Amino acid sequence: MGKLKTAGMRTIQASRKDYKGYINCMYKTDYSIAVGRRSGKWSAKSIVFNQAPTYEQFVSCIGTIKQLMEQGRYDFVYENAEGNVVAYTKLYVVKEQDVMVIETLIVDRNFQLQGYGSRFYSEIEQFAKDLGIHNIILRAFGFGASVFWRKMGFTGTAICKKIV
Ligand SMILES: CC(C)(COP(=O)(O)OP(=O)(O)OC[C@H]1O[C@@H](n2cnc3c(N)ncnc32)[C@H](O)[C@@H]1OP(=O)(O)O)[C@@H](O)C(=O)NCCC(=O)NCCS
Repeated sequence: MGKLKTAGMRTIQASRKDYKGYINCMYKTDYSIAVGRRSGKWSAKSIVFNQAPTYEQFVSCIGTIKQLMEQGRYDFVYENAEGNVVAYTKLYVVKEQDVMVIETLIVDRNFQLQGYGSRFYSEIEQFAKDLGIHNIILRAFGFGASVFWRKMGFTGTAICKKIV
């Protein structure tokens, strides 16, 4: 019998799979601008100013990313049950201030509106709880994503959520 794959959040790794997922999220998926629709592709114009790293450059950064985890800075991906890396987040934790700050959360545009963002967010929230953190602040706040964040519990005009 084949090994069962489990979906979920994990630290980004130096692998082709994670590279592909990272590039699809960071360099091929634009911000959610329209409410009720998945977001667009990065335009050729944006890419000129924001070149994607090569696989070798990506791999050379992973060691540093792992060291940064010791300082409370995390890069996670979300892998689905089919083994695709479908989402990426970058966040940091300041324990002394009892806060987690989500800097970026992106679901690959080809996998949006299928429940991955909410599953990923709930694992992120659980991660904060496991660290004993009670507050989450968003810095990832695109207009079209506002409906999504409200559904994740960031209500009203505040972008800070108290978790228990
Ligand atoms: C915003 C984003 C993270 C949402 O992830 P997702 O996987 O598409 O969202 P889900 O499928 O988990 O949706 C969860 C709920 O939010 C709603 N939702 C998600 N995106 C929405 C949008 N643009 N407009 C309206 N509702 C939206 C869904 O309909 C769903 O509602 P339901 O629970 O009532 O069915 C994703 O679309 C994305 O990465 N966008 C591009 C990058 C971006 O703008 N990120 C945020 C700023 S960095």
